[in-house]
Amino acid sequence: MYNQGMPKNSQVLRLKEASQLTGALWAAYVYRENESWQAGDFYHLAKPELADLLRLLNDPRSAPWFGKVLVGGRVRMHPLTGVEKLPGARVYGFPAGVMTLVVAGVPAELSARDQRLWRLATLVDPPPVPSPGEVGLLQQTVMELQQTQQELQARISAQREAEARLIQAAKLAAVGEMAAGVAHELNNPLTSVVGFTELALEELPHDSPVRADLDLVLKEARRARSVVRRLLDFARQGETNRVKADLNEIVEDVLLLTRHLMTTNHVQMTIRLGDNLPWVLVDRNQIKQVVINLINNALYAMPEGGRLEVETSTAMRYNRSWVTLSVRDEGVGIAPEHLQRIFEPFFTTRGDRGGTGLGLSVTYGIVTDHGGMIEVESQVTMGSAFTVWLPLEDVS
Ligand SMILES: Nc1ncnc2c1ncn2[C@@H]1O[C@H](COP(=O)(O)OP(=O)(O)O)[C@@H](O)[C@H]1O
Ligand SMILES: [Mg+2]
Repeated sequence: MYNQGMPKNSQVLRLKEASQLTGALWAAYVYRENESWQAGDFYHLAKPELADLLRLLNDPRSAPWFGKVLVGGRVRMHPLTGVEKLPGARVYGFPAGVMTLVVAGVPAELSARDQRLWRLATLVDPPPVPSPGEVGLLQQTVMELQQTQQELQARISAQREAEARLIQAAKLAAVGEMAAGVAHELNNPLTSVVGFTELALEELPHDSPVRADLDLVLKEARRARSVVRRLLDFARQGETNRVKADLNEIVEDVLLLTRHLMTTNHVQMTIRLGDNLPWVLVDRNQIKQVVINLINNALYAMPEGGRLEVETSTAMRYNRSWVTLSVRDEGVGIAPEHLQRIFEPFFTTRGDRGGTGLGLSVTYGIVTDHGGMIEVESQVTMGSAFTVWLPLEDVS
């Protein structure tokens, strides 16, 4: 325990004790101040000897050596030469705290045991026991520090998320541009292939042996062209025609078309359309495409059937008004490692069942082109929810 009752010159007592145990001739606490060595408490040193010691300490030839004891935190020995009054053959330096050491003059080299004794004697005192007031202040400071750290952590992760979103958006834009270039190049030749195949089929006798082959060429070329068209949609290269529209009406139109799909897939649909939804400025066909894509994905995700929920509403975010559309399913859900990638063109986990990986990228392209956002929440085996946010402009 810390010796609170020890006299103020406890350090002298320790120097004396260690000197007697190890046969040291003298010892002193010395410390750095104003770029020179000063003496603190000392043992068995007369005034002229002390002056001698300080001269030795501050001599440019030996001062760096003492400094090394401080920096290295190790016991060091130096021959005691060039001094007049200071007795002993060697001087030892022991680190004794911040910027402080103990120096001791000895007649001969110290044994390892004696060096250990000195180290023990020069160990730094533990800090004084704080008062209750100080403890309270300390605790408060620690709490404030922890709180600051938490806030910092929260800001850092918000920053990281924002960066990740930006990178994702930039990546999609880059891939989209590339895809648009390729699609553009393919569109014309494919149109020729389709057109000329149709012509050739018209000219062909009904019983021609190549008719089946040409039919196949036509079918495949049409399929390729439809992929290319959707790619162009994604890259927002198509014509857009924005009008003031009622999102509920668009949703109802699509639902009418997909009603038969619900029954054949054993899917029970709940529709909750917001009352008095303000009009949004949109390309009706593109938004229909969005709704169809989301519903198709939801149906694919529930091969055994389940519940599908479609909802429209209004909401505030970033100090703005939005109209929202949510499509929720109870399907297979999306694995966390896929969640980052589902909006990428050609990313699909349904390649074997005719998935092209274009649905969500087209959807993303349309929504962002409208100044909107799309969000997804999903849990594997529990289901997924996609929410589209469309901004409300001043559509007066
Ligand atoms: N509702 C959903 N439930 C589970 N997975 C989904 C859902 N919607 C999309 N996904 C995942 O995102 C991928 C990409 O979707 P999409 O771009 O529409 O392409 P595709 O439907 O052709 O696979 C899907 O393959 C699937 O893994
Ligand atoms: Mg899809």
